[in-house]
Amino acid sequence: MERGVKVTGASAASDLLAPTSWPELFARRASRGGDELTAILSLAASSDVITFSGGFPAPETFPVEVLQELTRTLLTDDSALALQYSPTEGLPAARAAISSLIESRQGVAVDPAEVLVTSGGIEALQLLTRTFVETGDRVLVEAPTYLGAIMAFAGFEAEVEGVAIDEGGLCVDELERALTVGPRPKLLYVIPDHQNPTGLSLATDRRAALVETCRRHGVLLVEDVAYRDLGFDDELPPSLWSLGPDVVVQIGTFSKIFAPGVRLGWAVGPAAVIGAMTAAKQNSDQCSGALGQMLMSRFVAEGHLERNLVGARRLYESRATAMLDALEEHMPDGVTWTHPRGGFFVWLSAGDTVDARDLVAPAARLGVAYVPGSPFFVDDRGANSFRLAYSRATESDISEGVRRLGTLLTSGSASS
Ligand SMILES: Cc1ncc(COP(=O)(O)O)c(C=O)c1O
Repeated sequence: MERGVKVTGASAASDLLAPTSWPELFARRASRGGDELTAILSLAASSDVITFSGGFPAPETFPVEVLQELTRTLLTDDSALALQYSPTEGLPAARAAISSLIESRQGVAVDPAEVLVTSGGIEALQLLTRTFVETGDRVLVEAPTYLGAIMAFAGFEAEVEGVAIDEGGLCVDELERALTVGPRPKLLYVIPDHQNPTGLSLATDRRAALVETCRRHGVLLVEDVAYRDLGFDDELPPSLWSLGPDVVVQIGTFSKIFAPGVRLGWAVGPAAVIGAMTAAKQNSDQCSGALGQMLMSRFVAEGHLERNLVGARRLYESRATAMLDALEEHMPDGVTWTHPRGGFFVWLSAGDTVDARDLVAPAARLGVAYVPGSPFFVDDRGANSFRLAYSRATESDISEGVRRLGTLLTSGSASS
């Protein structure tokens, strides 16, 4: 008989096993998030709408021919390694590739031994949260921030709080205020470059102050550099990790600059933290896929990544321009939006009477999809905001999709 289940007759057993009863057995953490991201991804998958929803890279940037060649060589010369389990911390070649990428793009060398290879940026966040966060611990995030991070923190039952941002990114004075009340937060999560969801970046002159504030208060600063290498301009502000490797854990991903299909990312930071995250990974997927790690490391070592990024930045800049031009042409008065200089997103704000959630279905009927702004906040803010991703739509679809949204918002503003 099942442990702890007293079955007194056939009907009692079937009651216990009724499909509707499984949710009663779910752990409390299972109710914390997940649905919204699933809904976004399913919208992004439909082919009959112009989609500005998921933060998907443009398939045109996938280096298919180079990867065909690299895969063939790898499977001919190195299949025993490429198809085998790999060390939890990552293959030496993958750690070396990440370390060289960081040195060339951030100007500071990192010992490959201090790099953890992860299965995407989201796994790095999960491992970090699992390492630090107990139920009820405070975690601070930008308001708004990446939905996947909110879900990772909430999934471990953190008390997640938003800190205001403005055109220059996180407001460090607001952070100081948040740090003077309540228990010391375990983590502060920031996306300094071309942020998801707003496209805004942290001003250069705020970066050292932010690192210093975290150091003074003993708060681990989690820097997510998902879009750092997709800036449209030559200038590259210092990474937070380069300014404070003692107090910053940097999380990166190959999803936006290489291909999400390989599910690869990284974490670098204080040795004790990376060590604990590596132990947590042993208790999770044990290792990231060796085939993807080897493809990525050869792609980086042979200079393909740098070359590929040149074209990718150009493509995303022309799509961003197409979106900004279309917004200028089609949006009614009272609607404002950000002007990203990198990354995938424009953040649009309509009048206070507009609720972006109410317009999802009418927009879908017009054949256009976006993500409403409220899930990117941990409180009830953002109802009148829309996240528009220009990364995966063609320029003509961008113009047409924005025209349709403009029609919707114009009729909405006329009727409100
Ligand atoms: C800011 C940010 N961090 C991390 C990720 C996760 O990326 P990955 O595909 O590597 O899990 C995303 C993906 O959308 C993101 O926008």
